[in-house]
Amino acid sequence: MKKIVILFSGEGKNLHNIIEKLHPNVCEVVCAITNKADAKGLNGLQTKSLQAIKSEVLEHTSFSSREAYDTELVKLIQSYEPDLVVLAGFMRILTSVFTQNIKAINLHPALLPKHKGAKAIEESFGSSDTMGGISVHWVSEELDGGEVISQKSFLKSEDETLESFTRKIKELEYELLPETITKILYKL
Ligand code: GRF
Repeated sequence: MKKIVILFSGEGKNLHNIIEKLHPNVCEVVCAITNKADAKGLNGLQTKSLQAIKSEVLEHTSFSSREAYDTELVKLIQSYEPDLVVLAGFMRILTSVFTQNIKAINLHPALLPKHKGAKAIEESFGSSDTMGGISVHWVSEELDGGEVISQKSFLKSEDETLESFTRKIKELEYELLPETITKILYKL
């Protein structure tokens, strides 16, 4: 069975969605790692499937540099020997210590290469773009700049609000990320 590690920082809705859709039949989620001890997504992992999902907290606050943190993170990830690492709302800028050692994909809530960065939803909603959408891309040293693997989009409606726009993005994320993980793992 193929193994994945998932990194997250907050709500973890995508983490839980991946577990529900893929674990353990399509791939094994061998560990969920967060940099925040109070991440909401940690809740419920014990009862998520017949076998509890293992989680680890590696807080960035106790490290003196991004490189020092990434060195520990890489070691922790490698100890699980995953086939793929999935960043699902992992709110960290990664250094080359990470990108040169870990094969990872990231979920981004806009149609890259447009609207990189942490305010992607607000920016794409506020732009003159006629479409909204999401991307899954390979993680590289450039923030949200790695090669795009897959995208899904929708037409903005005339009465679109930030709330309805955000909801559509989330719905697409719950479809696209598990689909893309499956395709990469089994080279579909
Ligand atoms: C998602 O919207 C993703 O696009 C972005 O971070 C968010 C994570 O949400 N990178 P959640 O923690 O999965 O609920």
